Amino acid sequence: MTKNIVVLGSLNVDNIMKMPRMPLVGETMALTEVTTAPGGKGANQAVAASRQGANVSFIGAVGNDANGQFMRATLLTNGVNVDAVSTNSDVPTGSAYIMLQESGANTILIHGGANQALTIEDINTALIAQADVLIAQFEVPFEVILAAFKIAKKNNVQTILNPAPAVYELTPELMAVTDIVLPNETEAQLLTGINVINDEGVLNRVSDALQAKGVQRSIITLGEAGSFIADGQKRWWVQPEKVDAQDTTAAGDTFIGTLASVIAPDFSNLDDAVQRANIASAIAVTRPGAIPSIPTDKEVDNY
Ligand code: RIB
Ligand code: NA
Repeated sequence: MTKNIVVLGSLNVDNIMKMPRMPLVGETMALTEVTTAPGGKGANQAVAASRQGANVSFIGAVGNDANGQFMRATLLTNGVNVDAVSTNSDVPTGSAYIMLQESGANTILIHGGANQALTIEDINTALIAQADVLIAQFEVPFEVILAAFKIAKKNNVQTILNPAPAVYELTPELMAVTDIVLPNETEAQLLTGINVINDEGVLNRVSDALQAKGVQRSIITLGEAGSFIADGQKRWWVQPEKVDAQDTTAAGDTFIGTLASVIAPDFSNLDDAVQRANIASAIAVTRPGAIPSIPTDKEVDNY
């Protein structure tokens, strides 16, 4: 059965600056390459789910500019419904500045623009009510996410939260309407105050700290170390696929969009869903750019 997924989130044009390594303070360094690509955590997750065959609709905003037209067209080309993407003439389309190191590791700066200007009025209630899953990240205002998740829960819609970047608290009110939280290691550290290292004892403590905030289920993505899952007191580590990373941008987004497209309503297939999400994100890190790197369902099947 095809799933109906709604993504509430950001649309960014990514300016990718490739560099040998991170520059030091006061240093001048030459870039090896400069490119642009469509991205934004929301858009990436929407395209990932759509390429896995889900029926995806987007709630978000762009500015009245060329980047906005580009992002809208990108979603449409990828089969994502943009009826609930509004155009805000007061602000530019969101943008990101990605410092991509030779190793494939990245550091990202964002300028929110239209993403940050999203309001509760932009929420399409009917769209959420008919969905199977609602996904959000932290690149749009907190109150919009909270209002949308409340609508989702009232309508028995599964809610997936990617607290990225970790700029808001996981409040009890939001956690009461969130089914699963997926931070990466950096975000898990910022959210819990625990220094996250790839050690089972530490990851158990981080999962406990998240649960103390009201988190029901969590998946901490750990890059080359895979992911650590906590579903109540059930805890397990899923090993990643080994690949040669070129560009890790959108690896986490590909993981989340893919997971959302296959997860059972009661999360009973969490392990299988994570295995498939791992394969999809492994493929994404071998290719440059955010949206251009996201694999199709066939590519994941054939891996
Ligand atoms: O997660 C990767 C994304 O983060 C990039 O595409 C960038 O736009 C930022 O939103
Ligand atoms: Na990539």
